[in-house]
Amino acid sequence: MINQDDQFKKVVSHAKEYGYVFQSSEIYDGLSAVYDYAQNGAELKKNIRDYWWKAMVQMNENIVGIDSSIFMHPTIWKASGHVDAFNDPLIDNKDSKKRYRADVLIEDYCAKIEGKIDKEVGKAEKRFGEAFNKEEFITTNPRVVGYYDTIKTVLSRMAKSLESEDLADVKALIEELEIADPLTGSRNWTEVKQFNLMFGTKLGASAESAMDLYLRPETAQGIFVNFLNVQKTGRMKIPFGIAQTGKAFRNEIVARQFIFRMREFEQMEMQFFIKPGTQKEWFDYWKDMRMKWHLSLGLGPENYRFHDHEKLAHYADAATDIEFKFPFGFKELEGIHSRTDFDLKQHEEFSGKKLQFFDHEQNESYTPYVLETSIGLDRMFLAVFSNALVEEELENNTTRTVLKLPAVLAPVKAAILPLVKKDGLPEIARQIMDELKWDFNVDYDEKDAVGRRYRRQDANGTPFCITVDHDTLEDNMVTIRHRDTMEQSRVKIEDLRDIIKQEVDAKAWLMKM
Ligand code: GAP
Repeated sequence: MINQDDQFKKVVSHAKEYGYVFQSSEIYDGLSAVYDYAQNGAELKKNIRDYWWKAMVQMNENIVGIDSSIFMHPTIWKASGHVDAFNDPLIDNKDSKKRYRADVLIEDYCAKIEGKIDKEVGKAEKRFGEAFNKEEFITTNPRVVGYYDTIKTVLSRMAKSLESEDLADVKALIEELEIADPLTGSRNWTEVKQFNLMFGTKLGASAESAMDLYLRPETAQGIFVNFLNVQKTGRMKIPFGIAQTGKAFRNEIVARQFIFRMREFEQMEMQFFIKPGTQKEWFDYWKDMRMKWHLSLGLGPENYRFHDHEKLAHYADAATDIEFKFPFGFKELEGIHSRTDFDLKQHEEFSGKKLQFFDHEQNESYTPYVLETSIGLDRMFLAVFSNALVEEELENNTTRTVLKLPAVLAPVKAAILPLVKKDGLPEIARQIMDELKWDFNVDYDEKDAVGRRYRRQDANGTPFCITVDHDTLEDNMVTIRHRDTMEQSRVKIEDLRDIIKQEVDAKAWLMKM
């Protein structure tokens, strides 16, 4: 069995080898935690974004989409609380000179304990076989119960110390748990300090008149400051939502784990404006809807879980994460936050402009409450990509590497392969390609034996291969091969479009929600 680290290394190298993700500025030795999406990666990313947009904006008549600027008035970040409170607790190791997030060190400590729990469960599963009852085992086995207690105690102490800004206690906790620098094993730590994550820049040509700006650390504020414009021009009635996708920037202290935590990344966010008092109901609704969206892609329900927040952000009265089982364990993929009227009230105060909704039926004005769903596009990419990459043992004792991407998201939907590079087969293959490219992103490949080409397309995640052979000249039929089952069948050229559409059409996937 391959371990988590090896699996993750495979994901990173496959992403590079097959043109999905490259290190940014690689020929200059790269830039830490910044990545470029390559020819296939850009397509996969676009398809994920489209899948989200379709589900969120197109399928909901009371949700509209906008595209606000990355540069925004600097007072916005004062009002939102980011200037004063968008901090992470950092700690340096005096020996290695490496910098860490103190909370991440503690969370990693707990993740190791979770690993021990998984091991105990695995052993018991083997011992008891069919009769094994996981729920009963984890709630009664003294060792496992002890592990859970430790995790709970550690995390709630950390949450309490962070909430009360008791950074000395965060350091004390690291020392008590004997947490060492993961790279060197040293326990020689500095004090814990707060570090603001926003990137600053300047707007203006001359030094005297230049204005200090921030690169937005979230797309959400672009929605809040446009709330009234959209509501009025779109004649939107509460409840309604505003969605957008776009870049966000954070000067992350620890930016490891490939595209999981980047300094420049993309978010897909939706702010849903509701009547005060209805937030609990909408929180439950959006939790359910967002989980259904994830499950519709078929990555496996066992790979998701909710994690309700103990420590709430300054703007929230309820919050949960949808966590995904990445190759390095369960981590946050999406956040669902009940943000109250915090943001709109803050912007009212700092801008001096009223940001209220007038309810004609009730004949009253009020500041709406907000329910937010916020997912990182890059994290979603990593979830989909890492889940898809498998090595399969075949019957003839060989293995094949296959990227089982959901067909709706796959960058290339079909590859057209002439069996040989002569006898008029390439010409027919090109004709098929010219016809299909109006509807799908398709690829043409005539190099190497057809078996090798199949393997290349499997590793690339292409759901269909279409082979043109000598019989095609007679019967106008081709062989279509399915990536996941490797099944092949003979079909008419004129039926190809419908066959492919059935599998890649977003409607069929979203209907599963
Ligand atoms: N507007 C709310 C907000 O920004 P967040 O939990 O800070 O909330 C939302 O971020 C999502 O953005 C996260 O669930 C994650 O998927 C993604 N995200 C946050 N920081 C990221 C980073 N440094 N790199 C990649 N994705 C990130």
